[in-house]
Amino acid sequence: MILRDLHDKARQSLDPVRYDYVAGGAGEERVLADNERAFDRYALLPRVLSGRETRDTTVDLPGAPRTAPVVVAPTAFHRLAHPDGERATARAAAAEGAVLVTGTASTTAVADVTGAAGDAPVWFQLYPHPRREVTEALVRRAEEAGCTALVVTVDSPVFGRHTRDLRNGFTDLPPGCAAENMRGLPGAPPGALTDIPMSPAVSWRDIDGIVGLTSLPVLLKGVLHPADARLAVEHGAAGVVVSNHGGRQSDAVPAAVDCLPAVVAAVAGRVPVLLDGGIRRGSDIAVALALGASAVGVGRPVVWGLAAEGEAGVRRVLAALRDEYDHTLALCGGHRNTDLTKDMVVRKGGTW
Ligand code: FNR
Repeated sequence: MILRDLHDKARQSLDPVRYDYVAGGAGEERVLADNERAFDRYALLPRVLSGRETRDTTVDLPGAPRTAPVVVAPTAFHRLAHPDGERATARAAAAEGAVLVTGTASTTAVADVTGAAGDAPVWFQLYPHPRREVTEALVRRAEEAGCTALVVTVDSPVFGRHTRDLRNGFTDLPPGCAAENMRGLPGAPPGALTDIPMSPAVSWRDIDGIVGLTSLPVLLKGVLHPADARLAVEHGAAGVVVSNHGGRQSDAVPAAVDCLPAVVAAVAGRVPVLLDGGIRRGSDIAVALALGASAVGVGRPVVWGLAAEGEAGVRRVLAALRDEYDHTLALCGGHRNTDLTKDMVVRKGGTW
């Protein structure tokens, strides 16, 4: 309910073009809708009488020990949603014990984001650039800022076709907003939404290059095929994020959660697997963790919280998800996240 209320409030307070930028997806927005709907097809089969009085929902992730199982997924340009932008998001995530994945496409420079987060872990989301020196410059900026892991987005060889943005003619950031992490790097001045590097020339060799370039753990975000999950581990990834970019890239892929079990099986426990796309309730988190995810990412709800109430709104979103998840874990008879196992997830209306 809290997330829905904050979404409504954000819709009322945001300029409709900016609202559409965040809310929208690619094509006919089938994948966008399916990401959420897919969770309605799963139910949790609780265990009873476990006798576990307390719960510990923390998880160890690369560069983020004992953190919440809810990560703030990278979403672009937070100052479109609120003047405090990424700094507010960083303070809120730090206060709620959640890792913030801050993006290449940020309206605040990464060093200012980590500054706002204080001691809390911040991961840097990287769009690999076909020009190695640009990728390297972004990696060094993230390292110098104190980020504790890199999240390389691999599902964006080209820009997604965002139907609403095309209809609204939304191509440029408003005056006063810029892609700050791109400042001073070769390429266009950081004013257009598309100044963020994406290239179909990027390949597994670039991943090898990034892994070799840094001592930070490198996670790959946007993996759906189990064969790519296996390759990710072979190429040195410290984690895999199952994601279809919140339905903003291909509009013909499965719901993210439906891709999770095969990726978990392919990775076979060698590195953590995370999931994002459509997480709106504590029970969605429980389903994802029972299907083998170590943690989940949340995209749009965080931006709605930010747009509606700034830092306090982001805190409310993260706290609501944490509390709902903790409650669901208790109802399932769990003490730790790993007490949720795949036999506890059933298809609604299905047989087992
Ligand atoms: C995104 N996402 C995204 N991902 C990424 O790797 N780099 C980016 O710059 C962005 N930017 C971005 C902007 C906006 C407005 C949205 C909504 C999403 C995708 C994001 O990390 C995540 O995969 C999805 O948002 C997850 O789906 P939900 O939680 O929004 O349903």
